[in-house]
Formats: sequence, C-alpha cells, structure tokens
Amino acid sequence: MATAALPERARPALMEKLVSLAKRRGFFFQSSEIYGGIQGVWDYGPLGVALRNNIKRSWWRSMVELRDDVVGIDAGILMNPRVWVASGHVQNFTDPLVECKKCHQRFRADQVSGPRHEADGGEFTEARQFNLMFKTFMGPAEDSSTQVYLRPETAQGIFVNFANILNSTRMRPPFGIAQIGKAFRNEITPGNSIFRLREFEQMELEYFVPPADEMKWLDYWKEQRLEWYLALGIRREHLRLRAHAKDELAHYARGAFDVEYEFPFGWSELEGIAARGDFDLAAHQKASGKDLSYFDDIIRERYLPHVVEPSAGVDRSMLTILIDAYHEEQVRDEQRVVLKLHPSVAPVQVAILPLSRKEPLMASAQAVEHELRPFFRTEYDDTQSIGKRYRRQDEIGTPYAVTIDFETATDQSATIRSRDEMSQVRVPLTGLRQALQERLH
Ligand code: GAP
Repeated sequence: MATAALPERARPALMEKLVSLAKRRGFFFQSSEIYGGIQGVWDYGPLGVALRNNIKRSWWRSMVELRDDVVGIDAGILMNPRVWVASGHVQNFTDPLVECKKCHQRFRADQVSGPRHEADGGEFTEARQFNLMFKTFMGPAEDSSTQVYLRPETAQGIFVNFANILNSTRMRPPFGIAQIGKAFRNEITPGNSIFRLREFEQMELEYFVPPADEMKWLDYWKEQRLEWYLALGIRREHLRLRAHAKDELAHYARGAFDVEYEFPFGWSELEGIAARGDFDLAAHQKASGKDLSYFDDIIRERYLPHVVEPSAGVDRSMLTILIDAYHEEQVRDEQRVVLKLHPSVAPVQVAILPLSRKEPLMASAQAVEHELRPFFRTEYDDTQSIGKRYRRQDEIGTPYAVTIDFETATDQSATIRSRDEMSQVRVPLTGLRQALQERLH
C-alpha cells in the first residue's frame, strides 16, 4: 500500500500531539489531574506502565543479566541523612534561583535572559543557591534531628553498599553494581511533559575499576550506552555523544559525556556517563570511618576503586522512544498516526481482532489469543469497526495484528497485518506462532 511520510514534522507541535496521544490512549496522565494536577509529577496508564517495564527489562537484561561483571541491588529511597552530607549533595546539589519581584514566579537563573522577567518586566532578584533535595521527617517528631531526604539519585545507595557487595559476592574490580529506582528532585522549572520531573526513575550502574583504567572504561561505557538506544530502534541521526566542558562537570566528575537526543525542544541530555574518580568511596570512607578499599591479592596492592557511572532516566528514555516512533503518514486520503515502536518495547506485540462481533469469529479469535499469550504481549479487541481498531493499534505501536475473518472457519487461516508495511498475509492458524516469532524476534 502506498504511504508517504508527511512533510517534516513541526517539531514543537509534536510534543503537544504526543501528550494528547499519551492521554487519549493511556500512556501517561498528569498526576492528580482532577484536582488541577501537581507540577512535575505524571502518572503512567496501562500502556505507559507496560512500556516502562519493557524499557527497564531491556536495560536490566543488557546491563546485568547478559554480563559476568555486574550485579544488581535495590536500596531504600530513604537513607541516613549523613549519606547526603558526605556525598556533597547537602552542600552542592543546588541550582541558582531568581525570583521576579513583580509576579514572584521563580526561575533557574541560567534559564532566563537579562535582568528582567520578559512577561511583565519585573526585575529579578539576585540569584541564590536552591537545594534540589526534598526533605521529610522520619518518626513521630518533626524537628531537625529527624529530617531525612528523598534520594535525588540512586547512586549513593550503591556506594554505601560497596563493602557489602564485595563481602557477599565474588565480584572484583573491574565490576559493577546496577540499580533501577525512583529519585526525587525539587526542580525549579519542571516541564516538557515527562522530560524534567520532580519524581522520576533512574537506571544507574556504578562500575568500579582500578584507578589507572578509569578513562578507558569511560570510553567503553559511552559507546555501550549509545548502542543500547540504537538497539531500541532510536534513529542514529537523532542521537549524539557530547563531552562535558571542564566548567560544566558535576562536583564529583573528572570527565563526562552525555548521550543527547534531538527532542522537539532541541538537543538535550538523555543519559549522563561520568568518571567519578574515587570521590564517593573516599567521601563515605572518611565520613563513616569504615574501610571501603579493595585489596588486590594478585598485585598485592590496596586501593580505592575509581568509578564510571552510566546514569539513565526511565521517563526520559520513554519520552525519547515515543517521540522517535511518532509518525504521521498519508494513506490514500487519510492521515495515519503510527508509533513505530521497536517490538522489544511495544506494549502490545500482537493484537487479535475478529473482523466482526459474530460467532464463530469471536470464539476463534479468543482461542487464538489464548494460544499466543504465553509467547507474546497480546491484546484481544472486538470493539468498533475493524478500521478504527487498526488505527488504534497503529497509534499504540502494535507491530502486528492477526485478523480472524469469515473464511477462518473454512480455511483454518488468519491474516497477519504489519503495522509498518501495512501488508496483509494469509497464514494457517497452526503456523501463526512461528510466523509471528520470525517477525518479532
Ligand atoms: N547519579 C548521577 C546522576 O544522577 P544526572 O545527570 O543528574 O546524574 C542522570 O541524572 C539521568 O537521570 C539523566 O540523564 C536523566 O535521564 C535522569 N534525570 C535526571 N533528572 C531528571 C528529572 N528531573 N526528570 C527526569 N529525569 C531526570
């Protein structure tokens, strides 16, 4: 079937279209929407949670399960507050904040141009450093002695468990500890839907290496991480690696790269890969008084390992995947919106659709769905016209649909429709599983 991509997508409008699709189809919604929402927090619907789980599974598979040198951990969100003093977050995890003296709106100083608020001409205050960590209280008293933080990164849960992992496993540098979990930052200006959030999820690896090898491993991990995004189908021309200039390095970093994506609002960070030296282990060793060094009994040397850290965001990966997959095409006289999601992350891989709500079509389609369910992420749908159902499956990124029609009862076959080619092939019911496996894996 002849299809044509529509002229180059109007990039800013793309975000609006995507957010609208996300809400219409159930990928994500603004949190507490019926109360007017809350800035910087989004809730994930049935398709969103499926996509996120697939992203996390893919990361865990590639970073932990398919490697000999990485183990996983799941640390608490709340930690002893001394962790955040030692890590430098209490002192340094800040953004410069200015306030408009007229409307009292607050902005990040590095995101405003000039000394006045463009909207109302109000003068900005002097910039002051604003700490991004959320504070809460632990236990029944609410005073400074019970104050704890919601972790702003998962990394510290790994560093403070370094000795536990060394002592409970057979891991020896170079080796890594991986973690996926929620993190919280009181961002001054959250925005761009799920790009900059106050509550989000990170996928982080802390990779511990002999000090002399740190830059070699930084080089290795930046390439590995770029490959991961490519394997999820993100187009190469929308991705780039950018080295940090000396003056933009985080307080702990000796060198860093960002994997950047060309979002509709410009090139922005998708993942950070940093060489953290022995900053964290040295800081925690000093503050806790516990020995965090490693004794290499082959070279008979004791040292504090250095760390290379690839740190990705689940939400940002999801936004990237959705944006990159979003296509509008002209099919005959109609416009088709299609998410060309990679089959490994698509929430539904195979939709099973009876052509009509008549028997024996429905029973046959349900039987096919039950047969395929153990092997693929499937969905049975008999609502609306078949055209509308194809359109919905295109919009949610389902790579294949199996249609059960009036012939199925006689020829024991069904049609496989491909989302991307919009081609239809007739396949015997007994060969469906294999035909789909060949196409999906
Ligand atoms: N441990 C290092 C660290 O946290 P980071 O560059 O601040 O480094 C790593 O964060 C990744 O976490 C980012 O590249 C992004 O994908 C995600 N991330 C950070 N802040 C975020 C926010 N406010 N909203 C959504 N994702 C965020």
